[in-house]
Amino acid sequence: MFLITGSNGQLGSELKKLLPEAVFADVHELDITDADAVKDYVSSRKISTIINCAAYTAVDKAEDEPELARRINVDGPANLAASGAKIIHVSTDYVFDGCGHRPYKPEDDASPVSVYGKTKLEGEKKVLERAETAVIIRTAWLYSEFGNNFVKTMRRLGAEKESLNVVSDQIGTPTYAFDLAQAIVNILPQLSSEKRGIYHFTNEGVSSWYDFAVEIMALSGLKCKVLPIPTEAYPTKAKRPFYSVLDKSKIKETFHLCIPHWKEGLKKCLQQF
Ligand SMILES: NC(=O)c1ccc[n+]([C@@H]2O[C@H](COP(=O)([O-])OP(=O)(O)OC[C@H]3O[C@@H](n4cnc5c(N)ncnc54)[C@H](OP(=O)(O)O)[C@@H]3O)[C@@H](O)[C@H]2O)c1
Repeated sequence: MFLITGSNGQLGSELKKLLPEAVFADVHELDITDADAVKDYVSSRKISTIINCAAYTAVDKAEDEPELARRINVDGPANLAASGAKIIHVSTDYVFDGCGHRPYKPEDDASPVSVYGKTKLEGEKKVLERAETAVIIRTAWLYSEFGNNFVKTMRRLGAEKESLNVVSDQIGTPTYAFDLAQAIVNILPQLSSEKRGIYHFTNEGVSSWYDFAVEIMALSGLKCKVLPIPTEAYPTKAKRPFYSVLDKSKIKETFHLCIPHWKEGLKKCLQQF
């Protein structure tokens, strides 16, 4: 039996479409920071594999709530990994400092510049220490028709305003949570202890937040003009990597995945609205 934790979030909601037979639990059914509850839940429901979609994802707020972020992003995954089940754990491009100039490989040194990134990196380490069959998937810039995300914000502001300033010097890859969910479903039957380790998954291609916003407006038929601005003109509490494109060769080769381009992912997502 598969267990999806944090199931009401973006990725958890997309997995519901693809794995209707699995057990879905959000924080009210299973708080992953409660070690005893995790142990009981996994053994009483005969869970063989956990897909951990639960996380503290408020990147700026984490700077003011490091303890809570740590409980959810470090202690939570540690509890799940100690349960004896196989685990697919989701992590982030924000484990990198973003000073690189070529796509990051899973084995590249991570040195996060935010509390969120630091706690996610620590969470990865706990999972690998405690679970024999553990696959960590770092992803980036997730969006879907569920939850709050950049696509929804741009569509809302694009309908209200004539122009909008968007950061153009942070480079990464927008990723449709459904495409990540599909990749996870393809990986599930191939999970084994030989394949344990860290992998990178995003949609294909490279973009800035500005490029992403321009495409959202165009595909949504919105006339709002998008203007490029540098990061320093849009200060945020948490620092973000300037460059966080992820190299996906390892996940594609190991699990035989074919990954759609981010513009394809965006088109599919917008059809859901
Ligand atoms: N969003 C992105 O842009 C992005 C980028 C890179 C990587 N990721 C990673 O991708 C994964 C999925 O992200 P997402 O965007 O789907 O996240 P999300 O929408 O924020 O969903 C996270 C879910 O976890 C739940 N949760 C929080 N604390 C919990 C706890 N103690 N026990 C159980 N559930 C708990 C949340 O519930 P509440 O809403 O009630 O708190 C929420 O339903 C995460 O690991 C995230 O770090 C996300």
